[in-house]
Amino acid sequence: MFGNPISQSKSPIIHANFAKQFSIELDYSKQLVEQGDFEKSVGSFFSDHTSVGANVTSPFKEEAFNWVDKLSEAAQVAGAINTIIRKDDHFYGENTDGAGLVADFAFNNVELKGKRVLIIGAGGAAKGVLPALVRAQVHAIAIYNRTSARAESLVNDYKTRSDVNVTTYSEAVNEKFDIIINATSLSLKGELPPLSNHVFSDCHVAYDMVYLSHETSFLTLARTQGVKHRLDGLGMLVEQAALSFFHWFNKHPDTSELRRTLIARD
Ligand code: ATR
Repeated sequence: MFGNPISQSKSPIIHANFAKQFSIELDYSKQLVEQGDFEKSVGSFFSDHTSVGANVTSPFKEEAFNWVDKLSEAAQVAGAINTIIRKDDHFYGENTDGAGLVADFAFNNVELKGKRVLIIGAGGAAKGVLPALVRAQVHAIAIYNRTSARAESLVNDYKTRSDVNVTTYSEAVNEKFDIIINATSLSLKGELPPLSNHVFSDCHVAYDMVYLSHETSFLTLARTQGVKHRLDGLGMLVEQAALSFFHWFNKHPDTSELRRTLIARD
């Protein structure tokens, strides 16, 4: 896995668990990459012909998108990838973040179909999950972003591409939201998005893509606003990893035991 920073990543523990389930001998390690060194690092990793694939995390997901020679539809729409798969002399780029989020909602029995969703943030994290939410047939998606031009540009990308009603938050300010997803990393700093608490009035599920060993600031706010069902990004982390593993080995790992182990570790 390539990223910067990377020391905190749980991915090696997760993939070791998956590999064990199928008795696969897997050497999955973290590689800290300096800005400007991505191409060199990934090239050197794949010069070893036993390397079947890799994960890529922030801030290299867009560079990785440009590095691979084939892209899945989810990756093309997201404009960023988190998974590289070596197959038949090609490098395929895949983005499993969105499908991982949708799988985590499913694991937690949260129905997406027909729901009104507010996404906070318009950066790489938001872009990565939008295609999968559209595919899950939500009713409408509103995007709030501090820098409104970024939200507008994301909305314009989707206007022509889907039947789902994708708008900026300012166009949907009087709407109610069933599900609110925080796709910013503000919770890592204990900060909150600058939104009125009214957004929570009809909300029954709050999702923070960040996870911490304690309740995140966004989920604390959601709790105090009466949101019953609150989820952090640990489940998404596990599910996006399970999907990467599937792309490399064509095997679906079980995630339930690992979810318990990771929560116990924190
Ligand atoms: P990532 O890949 O994690 O999404 P990013 O592309 O830098 O990272 O995007 C971070 C998101 O958090 C953006 O939506 C950003 O808003 P801007 O587009 O206005 O920068 C949002 N964000 C970061 N710091 C913020 C803050 N202090 N208040 C509100 N939003 C913030």
